[in-house]
Amino acid sequence: MDLIDQHGRVATDLRVSLTDRCNLRCQYCMPAEGLAWMPTEETLSDDELIRLIRIGVEHLGVSDVRFTGGEPLLRRGLPAIVAATKALSLRDGSGAPRTAMTSNGLGLKRTAQALADAGLDRVNISLDTTDPEVFARITRRDRWQDVVDGLQAAQDAGLGPVKVNAVLLRGHNDTEGASLLRWCMERGYELRFIEQMPLDAQHGWNREAMVTAEETLALLSHEFSLTPLAGRGSAPAEKFLIDDGPHTVGIIGSVTRPFCGDCNRVRLTADGQIMNCLFAREESDLRASLRGGASDAEIAVRWAAAMMTKLPGHGINDPSFLQSERPMSAIGG
Ligand code: 5AD
Ligand code: SF4
Repeated sequence: MDLIDQHGRVATDLRVSLTDRCNLRCQYCMPAEGLAWMPTEETLSDDELIRLIRIGVEHLGVSDVRFTGGEPLLRRGLPAIVAATKALSLRDGSGAPRTAMTSNGLGLKRTAQALADAGLDRVNISLDTTDPEVFARITRRDRWQDVVDGLQAAQDAGLGPVKVNAVLLRGHNDTEGASLLRWCMERGYELRFIEQMPLDAQHGWNREAMVTAEETLALLSHEFSLTPLAGRGSAPAEKFLIDDGPHTVGIIGSVTRPFCGDCNRVRLTADGQIMNCLFAREESDLRASLRGGASDAEIAVRWAAAMMTKLPGHGINDPSFLQSERPMSAIGG
């Protein structure tokens, strides 16, 4: 059985949200006062989570597992969950699933080595600015140096190539694209700019405030010569070679240059719901099956069925677009 949808796409990349909690309050994600966190009893235990990951890998052809949040480092069982994932075997016999984590980097200084030892392959760390004060305004926390230390620790622990995710916000860091890119290049981090998407809990997104992929490219072109690289596959980032290389930059035009037709992703929330799209408005409850005593095979069937309703595109550009009820912090990137 595969995670195939009606449009012929096959999901092999599982994004697992380990918690909806976070220690930052990025403006494009959460309101200043935070959110009502998910109740503990609704959250999957480590064992439940590991069981679903195993079903994905062994029964449904998942080959890549990315841990997300909220902030995944806030989940105590993370190293054990990574190790259990890495102990699985891909259906085609080609070894263990590839593992990655999307994190804000806070606390990574202390945990990077343990995560690498547990088998984590790579990290993506969010960093929108090289200016600690701008960071504090965007994330509402004065923690820039901790992120920078986390990035360094990730690189030292071999969790590379280390990728940095940045969202440009008009009036905050939209003039900083080139300097952030230079900063990342000097340190050997691969920077990717992500267009701001309507995923914030407070529904504050508006199209005019969004810095588009085209604008980002234009502002980088003032300082660098960018050559598009072929071979994007199902990766959301369009990659560009900077000057004569070897560095590259990624541009993720989620809104203005959607890549839904090549999507190979499926998401599992910390409370055991399958979301077949970041923008899905319907979820499939695997937790109920799990806690109701379903067998692995029954859960696999339910999961596969959840893919059939995956829409061809996110529809952000349709007048009738409605944001998901679940905010980004409870879906994971
Ligand atoms: N639009 C685009 N990217 C977002 N992220 C969080 N919220 C949004 C949004 N509304 C990014 C974070 C992080 C990853 C999880 O997604 O910067 O890198
Ligand atoms: Fe936390 Fe990530 Fe949301 Fe920022 S974007 S508040 S780091 S979950």
